[in-house]
Parts: sequence; structure tokens; C-alpha cells
Amino acid sequence: MEFSQLGHTAVIGLQWGDEGKGKIVDLLTEHFDVVVRYAGGANAGHTVKIGKESYALHLLPSGILRKKSLNLIGPGVVVDLEILVAEIDGLRKRNIHVGDNLQISERAHLVMPWHKMQDRLAESSLGDDKKIGTTAKGIGPCYADKMLRSTALRVCDLENALRFRERVTEIADQKNTVFAALYRDAERLDANAIADAYLAFGEQLRAHIADTTAMLHERIDAHDRVLFEGAQGSMLDINHGTFPYVTSSSCISGSVTTSAGVGPSTLESVVGVIKAYSTRVGGGPFPTELDNDIGNKIRERGHEFGTTTGRPRRCGWFDAVAVRHAIRLSGVTELAVMHLDTLGTFEQVRVCTAYRRGKETIRTFPSRAEVLSDVEPVFETLPGWSVDRPEVGSFEQLPDEARSYIERLEAILGVPITLVSIGPERTATLHRTAGVGAGL
Ligand code: IMO
Ligand code: MG
Repeated sequence: MEFSQLGHTAVIGLQWGDEGKGKIVDLLTEHFDVVVRYAGGANAGHTVKIGKESYALHLLPSGILRKKSLNLIGPGVVVDLEILVAEIDGLRKRNIHVGDNLQISERAHLVMPWHKMQDRLAESSLGDDKKIGTTAKGIGPCYADKMLRSTALRVCDLENALRFRERVTEIADQKNTVFAALYRDAERLDANAIADAYLAFGEQLRAHIADTTAMLHERIDAHDRVLFEGAQGSMLDINHGTFPYVTSSSCISGSVTTSAGVGPSTLESVVGVIKAYSTRVGGGPFPTELDNDIGNKIRERGHEFGTTTGRPRRCGWFDAVAVRHAIRLSGVTELAVMHLDTLGTFEQVRVCTAYRRGKETIRTFPSRAEVLSDVEPVFETLPGWSVDRPEVGSFEQLPDEARSYIERLEAILGVPITLVSIGPERTATLHRTAGVGAGL
């Protein structure tokens, strides 16, 4: 990946989220003028490590940590003002500048307290095998209201305080009635307190609210380079993921077009981010899951605990069926493999190249969660490597087996792997000249 040569680029997670998009976006932002978060909300948790400092970002684009980039929160993002204000305050306390380098779309929808309440109540009313295992950030209910329209609020609605209060009162009334009928533990919403709090957040953020779409178009016309920061992962995509165990937004590169508001030909590169293994947090099928010592070891070595919820992540071997699907969905042009160091110390490592269900071999990604829960992975076994945290400066210096693993992944996936990460720090990143092999 020749950073300085990239045109407008999207960074897309190709698994179930938490692939390490934050680190890649951070590395790339030095070479970009604008960074755009275009979908999802505070369910995202993007970690960036700079020296000894670690930053966990939920709503702010990861470019906020670099001085020169303009950071946009686009119309497709669902914005929780409470979390956003806290996130900005947290960064300022650490001397990170947040000023006119941050702009929030007036078209973005607001995540309101009733959305978070409904997320929690709906999840707790489901049986254990049906729970989606959401982040409880109100994402699903907010996107549902957006589609419904009559009960939705947008950032621009804060402009007229009187009207905003009226709308909050109408909606809170309606939600109180619905929640009381549906859920036993529903607390009543206090419309006035909510309106006060949200209007105050709006005041605090006033200088950051803008027509970010117009800003983005202007920057593109001026030949500035734009980086689109994907959130969540392709297997959590509302249309293409493991429905219903998905999030409520579109997580593939096409979402850049519909959510940020640029034409499909704008994107010149799509960087797919994958871990050298798989993880998933929350419910849903996960064919390569290792519910054993190996999975536990990956979790410990990779610090696989949620950035947003602290939940332990489920860990498993690399699933090439899922990732091949995701590559196609987003038109990925190059790949970054993260956490290769975490796989060090295993005698053997495995890659799932197909699924088996009874006598049938499945090579395409199944549409139904029930089918995916019922498949057995077909594994290819490769030799592991014993080097723990490799202190190496180039890809060529990695142990032979680690290099072979990357070369094999590249051959199976059919897309160049141009970047390999061997630790969370910016410096623990190896660039690679790819040589895509023969395929399966
Ligand atoms: P980043 O951007 C990992 C998962 C949740 C749950 C499902 C639905 O850090 O990669 P939601 O709260 O969105 O309705 O939950 O999606 N999920 C994520 N998992 N990383 C994320 O974001 C996620 N965002 C949502 O765990 O299974
Ligand atoms: Mg996450």
C-alpha cells in the first residue's frame, strides 16, 4: 500500500467488526485531507495507539488525532450527542485539538434516550438463543425510527428549540405508551428533562454542526483527498451479513455512496481490513469459533475484549468463505492483515476454505443464519511459528511460516495483501509488495 499514491479511499472491515480499522485509518490519515465517518454510531469502537497513549473512539473519525485533517460525521451516522460531547471533552482533556476540524452533518439522525432504552428492553425480553447481543447504544431503534420518519429527530431539528421540545414531547408520549404495553420494566421518559439535556448538547456543539455534504463536495472539487472510515464489519451488514445477527446499517463500501453522499466512481481504492483469525462479539453463527483453550489463548494474546462494551470476544480460525464474500461485496482492492503477532506460538494454524453440511460442500456464503449454524468448517492446516512478538522491520524478516501463512491467505482470497500488522503501535506495521498467487 503506497499511502501517498492512494486517491479517495474507503477502509472497510471484512469480518464481524473489530478488525483494526482504527489503526489503519490512523496510518492513512497522514496522507489524507478529509476523514469521514459515514455510517453506524457509537456502537463502533476504534482504537488508535500513539506511543504510550491509547485512544478509543466511538463517534469521532480517527483522523481527529492528527492535526491537519478535517473530520466529518456524515448524514448516515446516527449520533448520540451525550456520547459525542463526552468523547470530545475526553480528548480535549488529553490536549487533542477539537475545533473546526470537526463537523457534524445537520442531516444525521439523533440517537435519543428512548432508543437506548428500547435497545435494552427489547434485548432483555428475548430468549438467550434469540438475543442479537447488541451494544445497547440504541442503534437499531434509531435506524428503525429513521425509516419510519414520523418519530425521528435529526441534528438540524435542534435549531428550533421550541419545535424540538414539542417533538420530543410527542415522541416521548408515544414511546411511553408503547413501552408500557410491551415491556414490564419500562421506566417513564421525562420529555422536558430530555429536551433540556439535548438542547444543551446542541448548544455545546453549535460550532460543529454544518452541511457536511456540501463541505465534502467542495473538498473533492478542490482535489483534496478523502478517507472514508468504515464502521462495523461486512458480516454485520444489514443486507449481506448474518441476518438477524447484524447491525442496522450498511457496512460495505457501497454505503460510502448512499451514506456520505458521493457518486460510486468517487472511490479509487477500497482497503479491506482483516484479522489473521476471526472474532465476533454478540450472538449469531460463527462456524470457525474455537470454544476451547486455543480460542482462549487467542483472546488473551489479542486482548480480544470489546472497546465499546468490554465483552469478551468470541475467537476462531480465519474464515476465508466469509472474507471472500466480503471482498466481493465491497470491491476490495487491497488487504491489511492485522494481529499476525497474536497467532505466533501456535504449532499449527488453520484456515477455513469451505463449509460442509451433511454431504454438501458449500463455497458461497449462506443466506440463512440457521444454515450457517449448522455447517462444519473445512480447514486447511498450515505450520505455525514460534516467534512471540516479532521485533522485525520488514515483512521479509518474519519467520518463514508466518510469511507462508500470509502468502497462502493472499492466494485463497485473490486480493493483494499489502500491509501486515504485528502489534498495536504505528511502528509495528510491515509493508509488503504483493504477488497474488494461484487461488484455491
Ligand atoms: P467496530 O466499528 C464489533 C455488533 C454487536 C452485535 C451486533 C448488533 O468497532 O468494528 P448493534 O449495537 O449495532 O445493534 O449490535 O453488531 N457490533 C459490533 N461488533 N465491532 C463493532 O464496531 C460493532 N458494532 C456492532 O456486538 O453483535
Ligand atoms: Mg468494536
